[in-house]
Amino acid sequence: MLGRLNHVAIAAPDAVAAGRVYSEGAGAEVSAPVDLPEHGVRVVFVSLPNAKVELLEPLGAESPIAKFLVRNPQGGLHHVCYEVADLVAARDRLVAQGAVPVGDGTPKIGAHGKPVLFFKPTGFSGVLTELEQA
Ligand code: CO
Repeated sequence: MLGRLNHVAIAAPDAVAAGRVYSEGAGAEVSAPVDLPEHGVRVVFVSLPNAKVELLEPLGAESPIAKFLVRNPQGGLHHVCYEVADLVAARDRLVAQGAVPVGDGTPKIGAHGKPVLFFKPTGFSGVLTELEQA
């Protein structure tokens, strides 16, 4: 059911600063910052051959990342995202196994313009988990 790892999202107080260790330090391809106000984040994308790392900085006081940084001031692993061929079927199967969606579990359009939904960390070893329609 699970397909490719799409991205690992890491919260950071300053996404550009956070990207430097990947670009200057590790020689990775790192994007300019992209503001996504509808998601409350500024994102710096680190492109890897098989997936992306998304460095998320809060954009606005209502940003979910702002709340995360209150608990984790230096940043930390925010979520992982897996691609699935059939998002609703994947959701229903996981819910039947006891996984708990964030909100009512209705897919929303995510940061890549594709339907996504999130599952609460409970049941995923403490990691917020995103599924994206492939
Ligand atoms: Co994501």
